[in-house]
Amino acid sequence: MTTKKLYIETVGCQMNVLDSEMVVASLRKRGYELTDSTRDADTILFNTCSVRQHAEDKIYSALGRVRSEKKRDPSKIIGVMGCMAQKDQHQIFKKAPYVDLIVGPGQLQQVPDLIEKAAVEGGQHSALSLERTAGSVNKIKRSHETFDPLRDPTMRPTPFQAYLRIQIGCDKFCTYCIVPMTRGPEQGRVPGQIYDEAKILADQGCKEITLLGQTVNSYKHVDGDQTTDMTSLLELLHDIDGIERIKFVTNYPKDMTTRLLKAIHTLPKVSPYLHVPAQSGSNDVLKRMKRGYTIEDYRDMMSRINEHLPEAAVSSDFIVGFCGETEEEFQATVELVKECRFKNSFIFKYSERPGTRAAGNLVDDISDEVKKRRNNELLAVQTQISEEDNQPFIGQTVQVLVEGPSKKNDRIEKSASGLMQLTGRTHDDRIVVFEGNQRLIGEIIPIGIYECTAFTLIGTVITEEVGPTQLVGLSV
Ligand code: SAH
Ligand code: SF4
Ligand code: F3S
Repeated sequence: MTTKKLYIETVGCQMNVLDSEMVVASLRKRGYELTDSTRDADTILFNTCSVRQHAEDKIYSALGRVRSEKKRDPSKIIGVMGCMAQKDQHQIFKKAPYVDLIVGPGQLQQVPDLIEKAAVEGGQHSALSLERTAGSVNKIKRSHETFDPLRDPTMRPTPFQAYLRIQIGCDKFCTYCIVPMTRGPEQGRVPGQIYDEAKILADQGCKEITLLGQTVNSYKHVDGDQTTDMTSLLELLHDIDGIERIKFVTNYPKDMTTRLLKAIHTLPKVSPYLHVPAQSGSNDVLKRMKRGYTIEDYRDMMSRINEHLPEAAVSSDFIVGFCGETEEEFQATVELVKECRFKNSFIFKYSERPGTRAAGNLVDDISDEVKKRRNNELLAVQTQISEEDNQPFIGQTVQVLVEGPSKKNDRIEKSASGLMQLTGRTHDDRIVVFEGNQRLIGEIIPIGIYECTAFTLIGTVITEEVGPTQLVGLSV
């Protein structure tokens, strides 16, 4: 088998990162190896995102950059996969006529064959799922296949951490959001398959799995009279030896049941970390977004979290400058952030997505300047809270899964003693930076925290405990 070279660029959410991992694994089986140069590559793939305009612009300009490569070497295959491939299926060949393949996120298992076909036959090829209005729900569901072949540990960011898809698609249809159109109807994967995959991952040395779904806690699989929900799935996966941490993103507020919260509290491997986006603090905005809950519902969820899972760190997403958002409505969001004191929040300026209900029925009437100002204001409030939220960890010891060298090492030389800046995360998803030996990577170790910023806890490796409070930190 001759070796071919694959260049792949991925934007978007964790779901896309996982999809790229799967595509790379399936291409390795056909003799491909990775390159980070588009010039050397036989095949160039872009795994794309449509959630905001910015994500699409990035890919169109990347496509512009590879145009000359294709001219120089017409045998190079250029493919666009993922959410933008599905959404812009009628435009990509027009905007970038040198593209050979368009493959939607529900058709990724066809990528290796399509590359071969394009190489042998030439011409443009596409594989796409049905649009949401194109037939019966079952027919549409079948056209969005989950692509979860056996796992290749070499493609993951770290060998001891992995994403695991438990749900595809989304049925919530928030008015601003393109995901239900690109990823199709919500479908929970078969629990037995999820379990088998988790077991393979554990056998490969994986200690932490992150379960993925657009509304992950809405997970449901019905088989005859047997229904598996998120709680029972977590209980099932908890039994797997070798898996030490189970995380899951992203949660939907309305489906955060007390049963689930109690289960997270009693299952030690399940991380006390809940990413559960509120999107806005105003009932009127939530209604225009069609989020399906009120601020009172969200508050009720927060108080149930505080009651049943008080150790949890909660994080959120917000969209500022949504259609018609008044200053007062924006201030309600600021108030919600102050009240809920999230560990961190991801804040986005509203970006109109053609094909969504908001694009059809509402006016994107907030200027970019106002969106920017609101974004900065909310971010400043959140950043202060994040810092205050990290403060109590100073003087404490936390258990950290060491992920690898911290970015700082790009600039700092490794010291003569072999020590380097390492980074990892706590069970509740806080980033921790400390100095240690490379061989700690992949271990869960105690770190004594002595300083913090809004985004990071800074500490030392604990090797010995002296007395009940006095900690001696030695870098090993
Ligand atoms: N399924 C997840 C999130 C999917 S997209 C959920 O429901 O929470 C990730 C985040 O992008 C969303 O939480 C939202 O805050 C943001 N987002 C989605 N559509 C957007 C748009 N049109 N403009 C700006 N931000 C958007
Ligand atoms: Fe988009 Fe809403 Fe579904 Fe999240 S729940 S993916 S924001 S439609
Ligand atoms: Fe983007 Fe698709 Fe994920 S639109 S955020 S890559 S589901």
